[in-house]
Amino acid sequence: MDKLILGIESSCDDTSAAVLRDGVLLSNVIAGQTVHEAYGGVVPELASRAHQQNIIPVVAQAIKQAGVAKTDLSAIAFTRGPGLLGSLLVGTSFAKGLVTALNIPMIEVNHLQAHVLAHFIRQKDRDYDPPKFPFLCLLVSGGNSQIILVRACNDMEIIGQTIDDAAGEAFDKCAKVMGLPYPGGPVIDKLSKEGNPKAFALSKPQVAGYDYSFSGLKTSFLYLLRDRLRENPQFVEQNRADLCATLQATIIEILLNKLVKAAKELNINEIAVGGGVSANSGLRLALTEAAERYRWKIHLPPLAFTTDNAAMVAMAGTFKYERQDFCPMEAVPFSRVSAM
Ligand code: KG4
Repeated sequence: MDKLILGIESSCDDTSAAVLRDGVLLSNVIAGQTVHEAYGGVVPELASRAHQQNIIPVVAQAIKQAGVAKTDLSAIAFTRGPGLLGSLLVGTSFAKGLVTALNIPMIEVNHLQAHVLAHFIRQKDRDYDPPKFPFLCLLVSGGNSQIILVRACNDMEIIGQTIDDAAGEAFDKCAKVMGLPYPGGPVIDKLSKEGNPKAFALSKPQVAGYDYSFSGLKTSFLYLLRDRLRENPQFVEQNRADLCATLQATIIEILLNKLVKAAKELNINEIAVGGGVSANSGLRLALTEAAERYRWKIHLPPLAFTTDNAAMVAMAGTFKYERQDFCPMEAVPFSRVSAM
């Protein structure tokens, strides 16, 4: 029998709905929220309100684009967490309402697991070559920086994570102090192409194990700007590309160091990445080079699946549907996660 799964994602500032039939992508609709741009970061209350406005048209559009009827759906998968509670509540409540109306099961999905499982989405026009278990997934976004050991689709362990800021946050916050628009990651990525990645020295963390830290880097970037701006008020304008290139190269070096360490120590050579920062062209290049050097098989997600999207939620839901792993109506969102 077909597994026709509707996925709903509302953990941060993207409202998304997607339909997968037996793991094959039929539709993936994403409504971004521009309302946050003026604030240089996501404002949780505004995000929840925008989700409320978007959720009905986005789900309707996903079902329409998929060419199915909602009464054909086998189950609805929704992101239960981690994320912003108010935002998650919109998707969770909507899923509960729709499964009740359709009398079908509901599947809760961990947002981080969904990012990992995005690699298993089948697309009609793309070769299917998902990572082989066990593999490591570097998950880097605005809210996450983790190295996840993936033993199976339902057996994942966070072996390293940031003890303070996420990698995307480092991009966004440093972009903000340079007067660049939000989100800063894509802008820094673009400007870095014209800059010298060794123009300045920024501090690198000394954290044990596979954990990350980005707040020291952020602080050293701020001090660099403060000191140089005292001498030259035009410093940022005159050195923007070099500043971006140095910052990006340092973030990539920090990310890669721990990933290489984990891969060596655990003797794993299947490496996947996910999350918004995995769209970074410098990181993709560095991973491709590392793959040659360390004989890794590297799995880079299509750009559409790097940021928050419901296709990955529907994919995680598909795996759970196969195990009949459904959740009760009492399921409530959660904001943080320490284990998976
Ligand atoms: O996964 P995502 O859409 O959701 C959140 O966790 O919020 O990731 C968003 C993050 C932002 O911090 C953004 O600056 C970063 O991903 N990002 C990038 C690039 N594209 C998005 N960072 C670096 N380079 C990029 N090309």
